Amino acid sequence: MKSDLDNSTGNAGDPSADAHRHALVTTIREMRALVAAARRAGKTVGVVPTMGALHAGHVSLVEACQRECDFTVVTIFVNRTQFAPHEDFRQYPRTLEADRTALDDYRVDAVFAPADEEIYRAGSDTSIDVGPVARPLEGKFRPTHFAGVATIVAKLFNIITPDRAYFGQKDYQQTLVIRRMTEDLDLPIEICVCPIVREADGLALSSRNVYLSATERRQALALSRSLARASELVAAGERDAGAILASMQGIFAAEPTIAIDYIALADPDTLLPVEELRGSTIAAIAARVGKTRLIDNRLLDPPA
Ligand code: PAJ
Repeated sequence: MKSDLDNSTGNAGDPSADAHRHALVTTIREMRALVAAARRAGKTVGVVPTMGALHAGHVSLVEACQRECDFTVVTIFVNRTQFAPHEDFRQYPRTLEADRTALDDYRVDAVFAPADEEIYRAGSDTSIDVGPVARPLEGKFRPTHFAGVATIVAKLFNIITPDRAYFGQKDYQQTLVIRRMTEDLDLPIEICVCPIVREADGLALSSRNVYLSATERRQALALSRSLARASELVAAGERDAGAILASMQGIFAAEPTIAIDYIALADPDTLLPVEELRGSTIAAIAARVGKTRLIDNRLLDPPA
């Protein structure tokens, strides 16, 4: 294990200088040993899985984890199996040192940042298919994505054996996929979902926002604006999905360079499309702004 002492930050011997510095762990063996020690000390263990390039959305998960668990592990691993060959695996921002510095402000016990070969060893073939909930929406446009997500999350769960795991509503379908997997595989882990963190103007925080030019950054507001529009319509009594979707699409009409993958109103558990809003409904959008693919969503709750 590389701790801060062998990381020569210059503070060795002065524990107050960086009292929050976590252990940096790169091997499965060391990760298991740290968790075992925490367990022996009677601690509950929480994990926040990430691909790094940390922003305030990730940090909100870390805060929830440290509030509710005694031992917090943040994983940072850009998981190649959830990217299709034409996607941005190579360009995906990798900012481990900045991420670690950001985490110094929080009581994080370990950052698990393994190399690709530590996780996907030669000969490994198993992949987890969680079934129907992975098929619509993202699944249509990224058919191999959720198998990659489910497989890496299952592996991280088996390595860290957390009591609780924290995910963001930002990736709404991902939370359903992980809940399904956890339940179906009898994993004794509580899945905790935290609200979407947004910029002041509504844009959902994403590691991919760094790809946006100034113009694209402005255009990208069409996603959160159309979700806000849907929410307003529902509050005003509209229940017809077609009418709500048309109004959402109208907001994108002002940004013709944005390519919409989908705008959907769906059952929040099954993700099957709804025609009339009778209860809680998920509004979900995926769109390409220039070369950057963005997703956003919002739960619509018609007043009873
Ligand atoms: P990543 O995109 O790094 O996101 C890590 C976690 O942060 C996810 O649970 C995601 O939903 C959450 N998150 C991202 N943006 C957020 C925002 N604006 N507000 C709140 N939470 C936000 O999701 C992944 O990584 C990967 O698929 C992973 C689960 C780590 C598996 O590789």
